[in-house]
Amino acid sequence: MRQVFINIKQLVQVRPTSQKKVAGEAMKILPKIDNAFLEIEDDRISNFGSMSDFNSSTENNVIDVKNRLVLPSWCDSHSHVVYAGNRSQEFVDRINGLSYEEIARRGGGILNSAKALQNTSENDLFEQSMERIKRLVRLGTGALEIKSGYGLSVDAELKMLRVIRQIKRRSPQKIKSTFLGAHAVPEEFKTNKSEYIDLIINSMLPKIHEENLADFVDVFCEKGYFDMEDTNLILSAAKRYNLQPKIHVNQFNALGGVALGIKHNALSVDHLEKLTQDDIHALKNTETMPVALPGCSFFLGIPYTPARPLIEAGLAVALASDFNPGSAPSGNMNFIVSLACIKMKLTPEEAINAATINGAYAMGVSEKYGSIAVGKKANLIVTKPMDSYQQIPYEFGNNPIEKVMLNGVLID
Ligand code: NIG
Ligand code: FE
Repeated sequence: MRQVFINIKQLVQVRPTSQKKVAGEAMKILPKIDNAFLEIEDDRISNFGSMSDFNSSTENNVIDVKNRLVLPSWCDSHSHVVYAGNRSQEFVDRINGLSYEEIARRGGGILNSAKALQNTSENDLFEQSMERIKRLVRLGTGALEIKSGYGLSVDAELKMLRVIRQIKRRSPQKIKSTFLGAHAVPEEFKTNKSEYIDLIINSMLPKIHEENLADFVDVFCEKGYFDMEDTNLILSAAKRYNLQPKIHVNQFNALGGVALGIKHNALSVDHLEKLTQDDIHALKNTETMPVALPGCSFFLGIPYTPARPLIEAGLAVALASDFNPGSAPSGNMNFIVSLACIKMKLTPEEAINAATINGAYAMGVSEKYGSIAVGKKANLIVTKPMDSYQQIPYEFGNNPIEKVMLNGVLID
């Protein structure tokens, strides 16, 4: 089927098909065409350009989007959207003065979500997660990475990954799945962490490989969770199954996880709220994408990732939601883009680049997603009437989206 959007006020993020990411100074540029058309054939973008070059043809299904903008849909490269229940009580505890780390030390936090997930059936977990997925589709997320890590036992980690596989089959979004067995040390292994690491390496990884349940591997490299040595062991083991790392590093402490991730050819290093000069230096001339998660900083009241020094060092930055029940219970990428502008001082151009093409790169899908390019998937956002893409971050908290198209199909 052929469809065409006409009278697009701004067709945003127009790039050559071969471009996979954008770094440094170049992030300030968000290529666009004013008063544009965009043709879609089946699930792909087949042509676009200025309205003055548009050849009207009667066989096309014409959608007039006068006064509206069209962008590639958001590419959210870091989420924990599969979880059971919620942690709103911990939210209140934090308002009353406890810190995220104190709550975790008392057995709350990730372990609290693990208990809930272990007691939830696979079907129920799928239903709960799918509700959130449907909301994210309407908020314009067209590609999404989802992590395990609330199972923390062989059975429960497999259950989570099977739910992610089910979402892969049922959601119109592009989904990538990441094994995060090393998210926290379960209570029963508190005095014997190495036994839990053995379980990850010798039981979980082989089973996950057998069922082909993961695209990537992740470790929460942090004080009180998994140290450098643990992380090194797990990433080395995962390499034997061809699982590329995307890791949680430098959220509360800079332990050297950035350089370790790079040593293991990590596709991305995520969080980076505590970033050192050495970390920035280590990232130069690598293929590893730094990923900032401003929703987590906002919700926990911790520092924001210093994105300006990263960009000024010539590096790329991606933005992701970190959607999870403990540190970021929202996956709204429109708000993430606003936060990045308001709190991290990214320009709208930088923030939109970070949430589209660079997000796609950070989850290994930028060949087909993250920009307007011939041959790429027709995963698109049509905004409400507005003058410019600058209004997306400016009108924070508003939903700027009128329509979403995924795989060439308009979503109701
Ligand atoms: O990315 N930092 C580790 N993991 C998640 C939070 C997990 C939770 O609190 O449930 C994060 O922030
Ligand atoms: Fe996370």
